[in-house]
Amino acid sequence: MSGDTSAAAASSAADHDGVVGPGTPLLEVRDLAVEFRTPEGNVRAVDGLSYRVAAGRTLAVVGESGSGKSVSSLAVMGLLPDTARVTHGEVLLAGEDLLSLSRREHRRRCGERIAMVFQDALAALNPVHTVGYQLTEALRRRRGMSRRDAGRRAVELLDLVGVPNARGRVKDYPHQFSGGMRQRVMIATALALDPDVLIADEPTTALDVTVQAQVLRLLAEIQAERRMGLVLITHDLGVVAGMADDVTVMYAGRVVERAPVRDTFGAPAHPYTRALLHSIPSSGAGGDGEGRRLPVIPGRPPSPAALPTGCAFHPRCDTARDVCRTDPPPLEAVAVDRASACHFAAEVLASHDVPPPVEHEEAAHD
Ligand SMILES: Nc1ncnc2c1ncn2[C@@H]1O[C@H](COP(=O)(O)OP(=O)(O)OP(=O)(O)O)[C@@H](O)[C@H]1O
Ligand code: SF4
Ligand SMILES: [Mg+2]
Repeated sequence: MSGDTSAAAASSAADHDGVVGPGTPLLEVRDLAVEFRTPEGNVRAVDGLSYRVAAGRTLAVVGESGSGKSVSSLAVMGLLPDTARVTHGEVLLAGEDLLSLSRREHRRRCGERIAMVFQDALAALNPVHTVGYQLTEALRRRRGMSRRDAGRRAVELLDLVGVPNARGRVKDYPHQFSGGMRQRVMIATALALDPDVLIADEPTTALDVTVQAQVLRLLAEIQAERRMGLVLITHDLGVVAGMADDVTVMYAGRVVERAPVRDTFGAPAHPYTRALLHSIPSSGAGGDGEGRRLPVIPGRPPSPAALPTGCAFHPRCDTARDVCRTDPPPLEAVAVDRASACHFAAEVLASHDVPPPVEHEEAAHD
């Protein structure tokens, strides 16, 4: 644990709202809320999400399926479907609120500075164009490069992400690449315009363990070299331990804990984080990679259309009390750079309930 964990120390910290991440933020999300229009009425999928990412830092966003990780990223990128809308919040890119712009301008700004790697490269790449065309098209349109220069840069990018025989493969179509190579192509496409921030939404979920490690190592190397801010959405707590500086834990659309990774993993300040860390499979389990994914804790996360009253986690929380069933806990600072949304966060933190260590899944071992 770093620093003083007392609430007094927390309130005197400059960053009293608990939004972690030192350095001037490249990207800052403030109090973001997203709703979907459904036949049953409006459903809030993201509620009050805030985070910051500075140059060269990695923020991991974790949470069970349906917690709002992808929807919030699509909102940041201006890519929400027509049935969704941002009802609150700001997305500040170098201080400019992208949500105040037209959708077209929003996407244009993102195209210049933020890139996203999606979970499913095959779905994200256009099947009817060669990967070379997909790389050069962005360079020609956005950077005004000549066909020849863009072609040369496309080969360099494929080379950078470790596609063998890049010069030859630039003429291939996405389906001609293996899963791991497609993911590399996707990363090359994301890096083409030299973004300041990369949002990687489960970039390796579809890959086998060895290839996962290679792709993660690649991401880590490129990030360090270019000093990009990286938002890494993952189910894999080993990857969080190995790659991230800070972590935001989401539950049912809300942030329940955020902190520097080493602090949270050493002593969580929210029962949900604690449950996740305690249910991590022991070392060596899950040889197929599944064992390192977000562990299963008893019960299911709620649908955003039917949230429990009070604390949304209360039906699954082993320390819930009466107040938890009626009063939603606000996200509050519990220590320097740390915040938790639990009525009893100080108790959880003070219990020194040390979870078993998370085996670091460093991008280095493949
Ligand atoms: N098109 C949609 N229409 C209505 N609700 C949606 C739609 N897409 C997402 N949602 C709702 O938004 C919530 C958040 O979805 P999101 O895709 O962000 O989850 P996630 O955290 O990325 O999950 P996963 O780990 O499975 O990728 C979901 O619970 C779902 O109910
Ligand atoms: S507020 Fe109550 S139910 Fe929610 S996490 Fe804390 S102790 Fe558990
Ligand atoms: Mg998702």
